[in-house]
Amino acid sequence: MKIKINQNFSKLNKNYLFSEINMRVKKFQAENPDVKIIRLGIGDVTLPIPELVTSAIKKAADEMGDIKTFRGYPPEYGYEFTKDSVRLYYERKNIKVNNDDIFISDGAKSDLGNIVDIFDNNEIYITNPVYPVYIDSNTMSGRNIHFLNGSRENDFKPMPTGLDMEPKIIYLCSPNNPTGSLYSYDELKNWVNYAKDSGSLIIYDNAYEAFISGNYPHSIFEIEGGRECAIEVSSLSKMAGFTGLRCGYTIIPRELSAAGVLINDLWRRRQATKFNGVSYPIQRAAEAALSIEGEKECQKAIQYYKKNAKLLADFFKSKDIYYTGGESSPYLWIKCPKKYNSWEFFDYILKNAYIVTTPGVGFGTMGEGYLRLTAFNTYENTLEAIERLKKII
Ligand code: MLT
Repeated sequence: MKIKINQNFSKLNKNYLFSEINMRVKKFQAENPDVKIIRLGIGDVTLPIPELVTSAIKKAADEMGDIKTFRGYPPEYGYEFTKDSVRLYYERKNIKVNNDDIFISDGAKSDLGNIVDIFDNNEIYITNPVYPVYIDSNTMSGRNIHFLNGSRENDFKPMPTGLDMEPKIIYLCSPNNPTGSLYSYDELKNWVNYAKDSGSLIIYDNAYEAFISGNYPHSIFEIEGGRECAIEVSSLSKMAGFTGLRCGYTIIPRELSAAGVLINDLWRRRQATKFNGVSYPIQRAAEAALSIEGEKECQKAIQYYKKNAKLLADFFKSKDIYYTGGESSPYLWIKCPKKYNSWEFFDYILKNAYIVTTPGVGFGTMGEGYLRLTAFNTYENTLEAIERLKKII
């Protein structure tokens, strides 16, 4: 063929991080069919969806089978009842958002990947290490990426100190994937002030908000001025176990504008063309999960995962291995022993303890020498994983 392809794809790693891990694990399992692998790699949930959510799906499915209640295409931006449930979820945390600010989607990953469509060639600032989608999606679009380095010295919480005052797009994720670090009110205020003063936009990934313990911001919109400089992306995957159901949302305050254009209108236009909405039963499921009762049920699962995280944290503490995360996050971010880099330690643990982890370098260069483990497996598997790790670390 003589067509031109997007050459930016050649700048990406050959495989997406979690696909690469899957391929390695599949190969290892094929060569060692008798070993029982424990997966502490991708942050995928293991507990079933609460009954109140599954019954909402069943009820909605029945409605679709009845001529009186059947529905066709959903609204591209979400049903009002789903937006109401997001708005009320925020309201219970004393955060004001409006239905017109909310866009229901099939998950945070899609929104974070697609949002680049509505911006021109801005300078992109991404914390490092971080969820690989921000880097990959901006690379695919040929954007100029700068890194805000996180390290043990700054508790993996880069701050705007020292940045020039040119406008930029800044990606923040708090609680952070992969490190579990989270910005305090003052630190986030610092970012909001910087964004406002420099005319920048913050894209705030809030996917792990439901794991927060203690007095930390549950949304960038809790911070004064947040509505004037930030977009917030969130998901029910981790909050309600929706990794297999698919539902998330993006909040774009209607006061956000650039060059006289409302960012909210641009995203509205983009979604109307390229997205046909989330299915009715899944939106009813999201509504149930975000309700007062639903949130309580979902929190039971989150507390269960946090108990696993504590077991893992206690183990690494007992071994005197540096780690972060685990308190307001389902992830433990640990320092590899000196003789290993991330992929070497990943291989060592896979081959000797049959445990899948995620190499820190997959989240950016600053993750080299680290490893991420998730607390999303079952309590029993987490205990077994620790027993196996005791024998090899
Ligand atoms: C992760 O393991 O980092 C996440 O589960 C991946 C995702 O949410 O797409």
